[in-house]
Amino acid sequence: MQKNKSPVLGKLVLGKLVLGITGGIAAYKAAELVRLLVKAGIDVQVVMTSAACQFITPVTMQALSGKPVFIDMWDSSISNGMPHIELSRNADAILVAPASADFIAKLVHGRADDLLSALCLARDCPLLVAPAMNKQMWENPATQRNIKQLKADDISILGPDSGEQACGEVGLGRMLEAEALLALVNAHFTPKLLAGKRVLITAGATLEMIDPVRAITNLSSGKMGYAIAQAAADMGAEVTLVSGATALAVPNHVKNISATSAQSMYQAVMSNIATLKFEPKDIFISVAAVADYSPAQTSAQKIKKSKSLLTLGLVPNKDILAEVASLPNAPFCVGFAAETENLLEYAETKRKAKKLPLIVANLASQAMGSDENQVTLLDKNGVHVLPHAQKSEIAKLLLQHVANMLL
Ligand code: CTP
Repeated sequence: MQKNKSPVLGKLVLGKLVLGITGGIAAYKAAELVRLLVKAGIDVQVVMTSAACQFITPVTMQALSGKPVFIDMWDSSISNGMPHIELSRNADAILVAPASADFIAKLVHGRADDLLSALCLARDCPLLVAPAMNKQMWENPATQRNIKQLKADDISILGPDSGEQACGEVGLGRMLEAEALLALVNAHFTPKLLAGKRVLITAGATLEMIDPVRAITNLSSGKMGYAIAQAAADMGAEVTLVSGATALAVPNHVKNISATSAQSMYQAVMSNIATLKFEPKDIFISVAAVADYSPAQTSAQKIKKSKSLLTLGLVPNKDILAEVASLPNAPFCVGFAAETENLLEYAETKRKAKKLPLIVANLASQAMGSDENQVTLLDKNGVHVLPHAQKSEIAKLLLQHVANMLL
């Protein structure tokens, strides 16, 4: 098979981030945030205020980010003696998390009396702020005025969250959890390549009931399909996820429809494509591990064991992907092929048999249950090998490829 010499795929993640930490109890959450940002492949430079150091030590943040932490405006380790210019010069963005009420007020006034505030003032990149404070401080008209001003200055406000606070009160003011912040930061920096498109994704495994307590299923965690749903929403698409049972949280800004059996998944997919009036510019991505067969009959009662051979009659299920791809006004269809052998050959055979513009080939042993994967894309131009990466990263690269094919 022809190997594509000039793949158009590039990295679609935020590269360098300055993470500013100010003084508040939520500073402890910044440790987890750094861990997640680094895990997502983002180069994180931590800058702390001296108040932040009262809550969490720079040593912790250095260990997690793998880089020295800057606190002091007069730090001489930056060669030109201007850390407030140098640190933000190379950054794609600055995120202040947690941002105290006092720091927010400083930003409003453009004050620059410590390294972090000076860095924010001297920046040449987007600034994102995750407020964290007591409920009364958040509700205070002064803070609300300040937040309004920051928004008017084109500064993105992430959160705050509502719930139990360190001071014992319950209400708005908590910093968003690290995972939620990471998702928002990712969404913020993902190019809106799929704006104006509808994307329908199937994910997880179907369950074909034999009796009320037994079923035939496939092994599938749903992680790849959910990662694609999140990435598609981040890229500005209107996303619907038709999902078999999984233990995963529904991604932000994604409509979720649960479908247990292959039959109910088929119905959910077809009715969505019809009601949302999918067109060839829209996208269907079939990631679900759909059972190829269902029991010919489902027993209403639990089948009792006996010593004789039990024969189970199985009837084939509809191939959802092939059915969608053969619709008159079919959306752009992407299939997945999880194989145990002859990966590329079997995947290409499936792509042609189901009349798909694109199929994603992966080895079942590498894909199943893991947060990472190694996939190869096959289309009419040949084979595009993607790097071994987190499923969230693979999702972005796959959708970037789809967006390029739809141009
Ligand atoms: N698929 C589907 N409906 C089915 C079976 C498969 O939509 N009833 C989709 C899957 O979601 C995947 C692609 O078809 O995108 C390939 O699925 P796979 O199970 O690898 O292949 P099958 O066509 O079922 O063939 P086989 O099981 O023989 O490998």
